[in-house]
Amino acid sequence: MTFTREITGRLRSQRTPFYYYDMDVLRETLTIASRESAARGFTVHYAVKANFNPVIMKTIAEYGFGADCVSGNETEHALNCGFQAEETVFAGVGKSDHEIETGLRLGIKCFNCESVAELKVLDEIAGRMGKKASVALRINPNIEAHTIRNITTGTDENKFGIRITELDKVVTIMSQLNNIVYRGIHFHIGSQVTDLNVYRNLCTRVNQIYDWFTDRGLEPEVINVGGGLGINYNEPEILPPFKEYFDIFSIHLDRKIRSSISFELGRSLTAGCGSLISSVLFVKEGAAETFVILDAGMTELLRPALYHAFHLIENLTSELPVKKYTVAGPVCETTDTFGKFIALPETMRGDLIAIRSAGAYGEAMASRYNLRSLPGSVFSDKL
Ligand code: LLP
Repeated sequence: MTFTREITGRLRSQRTPFYYYDMDVLRETLTIASRESAARGFTVHYAVKANFNPVIMKTIAEYGFGADCVSGNETEHALNCGFQAEETVFAGVGKSDHEIETGLRLGIKCFNCESVAELKVLDEIAGRMGKKASVALRINPNIEAHTIRNITTGTDENKFGIRITELDKVVTIMSQLNNIVYRGIHFHIGSQVTDLNVYRNLCTRVNQIYDWFTDRGLEPEVINVGGGLGINYNEPEILPPFKEYFDIFSIHLDRKIRSSISFELGRSLTAGCGSLISSVLFVKEGAAETFVILDAGMTELLRPALYHAFHLIENLTSELPVKKYTVAGPVCETTDTFGKFIALPETMRGDLIAIRSAGAYGEAMASRYNLRSLPGSVFSDKL
């Protein structure tokens, strides 16, 4: 994504704050992800939670990806945006009855099921509707993802998935449920994983669990290894290492596995194409720092306030000598800060600021706190 003078000039005429999506970057990312996965016979479901903007969703659907949804609304939205029901999976530790009914009515590929209690409810609702529910069991592999604590999902202390020690019980109960069709197994260990060795450990665990199921005559048709591939927030132009990532699974999953292998990628597909564009409202001196107050805050991009997440911040309109600033938003919360002591060219009221790598978990996590308006979206090919 390059902010040429021409692009910056056009962005200036839009009302800030808004998300700017570079559609060439999105297409390039999707091309590589789809090429590298297809070359190894893998399927990718896009994790809709990362960004459900319809323009982004429709573009992703055009590349033939499936959809990974975590609510009834996401499931309906995915189908409206062109994803196929047969390639849509529905995950989540707390699916409501209404959401389960939605999934069954739409005829999705499978429910990623997280507990015995959920299996029983799924069976009952499917029976009532005269349907069969296809299920992949989400197994908590107890693998440390070495990422932000708050977005680790695959260890024993997390609420997600079925613990390995419970599998015997789950399989016995599942065999007694007439409206459940067992399709396979599902894993997800966390998000923003940058140490790819973690996925080797996941492969080892998948191999063991595959054997466990196959020994009991339950050879999985589908093995879904989840998502989580991290991106380089320091260098937004670098595309995620799709080749290295898919290679790990190709090399470390057992050769004898005949199941189809699928992935649920969110961040790595959409983060790089999006920037939050904001205007500087005020520059003000604090006791120990100079604050740049933007017209975007935690309501537009929550990640820094919620996880102390780092996003590269750029001033698109100043070429003056560099100074250090604390960049904050307008919301009435101290954590509404994008970064402290950030080097920026001397910044003034009216300058245009880009907060990079915000195409995933940016617009999707926006809120109306302080009764602020939701951010708009602007696309490079319609600029
Ligand atoms: N599959 C499951 C079951 C998940 O829970 C997630 C993300 C994904 C796939 C997609 O993971 P990805 O490829 O995007 O890393 N709001 C946080 C991220 C939360 C991720 C939740 N689950 C953030 O802003 O970093």
